[in-house]
Amino acid sequence: MCAMKMIPSRLFQIASTLLVSASVALHPVAAQTRPAPNPQLASKELNARVDALLKQMTLDEKLGQLVQFSAGYATGPGASNLKYEELVANGQVGSFLNVVGADATNHYQHIAVEKTRLHIPILFGQDVIHGHRTTFPVPLALAASWDPAVVETVAHFGAAEARADGIPWVFSPMVDIARDPRWGRIIESAGEDPYLGSAMARAWVKGYQQDDLGKPDSVAVSVKHFAAYGAATAGRDYNAVDMSENLLRQVYLEPYRAAVQAGAATVMTSFNTINGIPSTANPFLMTQVLRREWGFDGMVVSDWGAISELTVHAIGDGPTVARKAIEAGVDMDMEGDLYGRVLADQVRAGKLPESVVDEAVRRVLRIKFAVGLFEHPYTVPGPAYEANAERRAVARNVAGETVVLLKNETVEGLGPLLPLSAKTRKVALIGPLADNPQEMLGAWAQLGDPRNTVTLKTALTERLGDRLLYAKGCELLSGEDANLIERVRFNGPLADDNHAKIPDDARMIAEAVETARKADVAVLALGEPTNWMEGEASSRTTLNFTGAQQQLLEAVVATGKPVIVVVLAARPLELKWAAAHVPAILLGWSPGIEAGHALADVLLGDVNPSGKLPVSLPRAVGQEPLFYAQLPTGREASGDLSHLPRNGVEKFQSRYLDEENSPLYPFGWGLSYTRFSYAQPTVSRVEVPVREVLTNGYRPVVTVGVDVRNTGSVAGTEVVQLYLRNTVASVSQPVRELKGFTRVTLAPGEQKHLEFPLGFDELNFYNAEVKRTVEPTTYKIWVGGNSLATAETTLKTIE
Ligand code: BGC
Repeated sequence: MCAMKMIPSRLFQIASTLLVSASVALHPVAAQTRPAPNPQLASKELNARVDALLKQMTLDEKLGQLVQFSAGYATGPGASNLKYEELVANGQVGSFLNVVGADATNHYQHIAVEKTRLHIPILFGQDVIHGHRTTFPVPLALAASWDPAVVETVAHFGAAEARADGIPWVFSPMVDIARDPRWGRIIESAGEDPYLGSAMARAWVKGYQQDDLGKPDSVAVSVKHFAAYGAATAGRDYNAVDMSENLLRQVYLEPYRAAVQAGAATVMTSFNTINGIPSTANPFLMTQVLRREWGFDGMVVSDWGAISELTVHAIGDGPTVARKAIEAGVDMDMEGDLYGRVLADQVRAGKLPESVVDEAVRRVLRIKFAVGLFEHPYTVPGPAYEANAERRAVARNVAGETVVLLKNETVEGLGPLLPLSAKTRKVALIGPLADNPQEMLGAWAQLGDPRNTVTLKTALTERLGDRLLYAKGCELLSGEDANLIERVRFNGPLADDNHAKIPDDARMIAEAVETARKADVAVLALGEPTNWMEGEASSRTTLNFTGAQQQLLEAVVATGKPVIVVVLAARPLELKWAAAHVPAILLGWSPGIEAGHALADVLLGDVNPSGKLPVSLPRAVGQEPLFYAQLPTGREASGDLSHLPRNGVEKFQSRYLDEENSPLYPFGWGLSYTRFSYAQPTVSRVEVPVREVLTNGYRPVVTVGVDVRNTGSVAGTEVVQLYLRNTVASVSQPVRELKGFTRVTLAPGEQKHLEFPLGFDELNFYNAEVKRTVEPTTYKIWVGGNSLATAETTLKTIE
C-alpha cells in the first residue's frame, strides 16, 4: 500500500419499474441486436468536419489530441506535475481528467480555444461511477435491483450533474464480469452474470448518452475495462488473465458488446494481459473484435498509465510500446505521457505510418464534435449543487430497490423478525456503520459529499425517537490499523496531534452489549471500510467483517436478543456465522446519500424488499471464484456435502473436503415480506427446427409462459428469472444460464401471466470453431425467484 502513491480522492471521494401486465408478451430485457455503430459518430456531416480539420493539422498538433493528463487531483499512481497551461497553449493536450467545475474547466478551455492555432477544445473526462454529486448506491448494488430503469435514472442524473460541471465524458460504466470478491473492484461491476451484466450495460449507456451525445444533459460514456479485467488471477488487482476464447466471448465480452451495440461512444482498455498480450496493446481486442466485428466507430482511451506500464509488462521499450498501443487501436494515452513524447519520432523514422495517427485523431475529434464542444466549449456556471428534496427522493427510492433480504426467520412471540413490529418497544442500533456518513457513499464516490448523507442512526431516530438506543460497538479496524483510514484520507503521515486513539474494542463491545440488553431487538450495521478496502487496489484474501466486528456480533447475539444484521459492504463477505446465528440479515451494500432513510424504510416495512443477488455469496473465501453458471464436471458432487466423505463414492467427487460446494446464498437470491408461487412454465412450441432459430435473426422463435402469484398478505415485487440449460452440445455448456428476467408487482392474492421470448440470442453458444451457433438439443428451462428455481419445462431444437 505504502509503496504506491495512494490518492486521497480515490479512497475518500474515492424509475420506473418494468411492470408487466397480465398476458402481455415481454420484450426480452437483453434482446441482442446486430452490430450498430453509434449513428452520430458514423454521420457523414460529422466526419466531413473531422476530415476538414484533420487536413489542417501538423503531426505535432495531431499527437497533442491523443494526450490526456490528470490536471486536478489524481486517481492513480505517479501523477505528473506538468505545466498544464503551457502544454495546452502549445496544443500538446487533447483531454484532461480530474478537472471539475465550470471555473476549472473554463480556465483550460479558454487557453485551448483562444491560444492554439486551430482552436480545438479540450475534452474533459471524469470518473462518474454511481452519481456525480448526488451519490447513489454503488454499481453492484444497482445491479441487485435487476431494474435497468433504475440504472438509467442514476446514469442520467450523473450525466446532467457532470455536464453542469463542464464534463461531457464519463469513465463509466464498468462492465467487467466479476466472479471473485477477493477483487475489490467487484463493487463497480454488475456481478457475475453476462445476461444481467449486459442488461445493466445497455441501461448505463442509454441513461448517460440518451441517444444524443450533444444534449446539454447527456455525456459520452467510456465502457471499461476492455477486457476481462474482472478475471484477474487469484482476485489480485491488475493481475494477468488467461482464458479460452470461448469463455472470453460467451461470458466476459458479452456486456461490452451490449454496451457497444447500445451506442457507447468510447471504450477504456484494461490493465491486465489476456493470454499473455496486454489489453492495452491488443489488436485482437481493439481492432478485430471491437471495430471489425462490432462496428465500433468511437474512441479508445488507455487506462491510467497503462501504455507506459506496457514496458513493465516487458513487451518493449517506451517508443515500441507506444507504437504497439496505437497500432492495436488505442487512440488516447491517459496519463502515460508517452504518445506525446515518442510517437512523432516513430512517424519521422518511418516506423509508424502517419495514417495510423490520423485514424486515432479522427476518433478523438469525432467525440469532440459529437458532444458539441466546438459549438459550446465553455460551461456556464450554474447555482451551487444542493442535495435537494427531489434528488433525495430519487436516491431514496433507488437505494430501496437495491436492498436484498437474505434471511428473515420467525422469532418466538414476534413472528418474522422483519419488518420490525410496531410492538417492538426499544431498538438497539449498534455497529461502526450505523452512523458513518462517509462510508455510506461507498468507493468511487468522487465528488459525493458525506455532509449530504443520512445515516441509519439519523433516519431511525427520526422514526423511533427515544425508542432507539445506540452504541457504536467498535471501529471498522482495530489497533493501529484504525488509524490507517485517517492517514490515507490525508495522503501522508498524520501529525502527532491528529493521531486517532487506538480503539478500545473490549470497552466498546461491553457498552454495546449493555445497550442490547436494554432493547427488545438489536440491529447491527456491520461491514468493511468501503473507501479503504473496496474499489481499485483493494484485493483481500479474507472476506470477514473487519476489526472487532465479528466479536461484537457474537457478543450481542450472546445476549439472547433477536439480532438483525444489516451488511453495509458492497463486496460479498463471508456471512456463514451470521447466517447460522441470527434470524434476519439485510444486505444494504453502499447505499449512497439516502442510506439511512432507504434502510429504515425496509426495516420498518414501508418498502418491501425486492433486491436479488447479482453475485453468489460464499460460505468460505476458498470457494472463490464461485458462480452459478459452472460447467458440469465428470464427477458431479451429489448428496450431503456437509461432512467428510465416508466412502470412496463420496470422496472421489468434485467437492471440497471441508466445505460444501454450494453458495451460502445463491445468485438471484432475495426474500420479500410476502411470498410468491410459480406454476409450471409452458412453452409455446415444444420443438423448433435449428434452421429456423439460425435464420430467424434476432426475433424470438418460442415463448415461455408462467403464472406467478403473490400468496402472502402484503403487496410485493418479484424479480422473475428464467434459466436454461443446453443439455447436449458439441462444447460442454453451463449447468444453468440466466436468459430472461423481469420485475413484477403483485397485490396480495394477485396472479399474473408472464411470457419470456427465446430466440437465437438466448439459445446460442460458441462452438469449437468459436462461432455462435445452435445445434439440435434439449433445453431444460426453469422459471423462479432465484438461480435454484425448480418450476421446469423443456424445449427441443431439431434437425
Ligand atoms: C481506473 C479507471 C479510472 C481511471 C481514471 C484507473 O486507475 O482503473 O477505472 O477510470 O483510473 O481515474
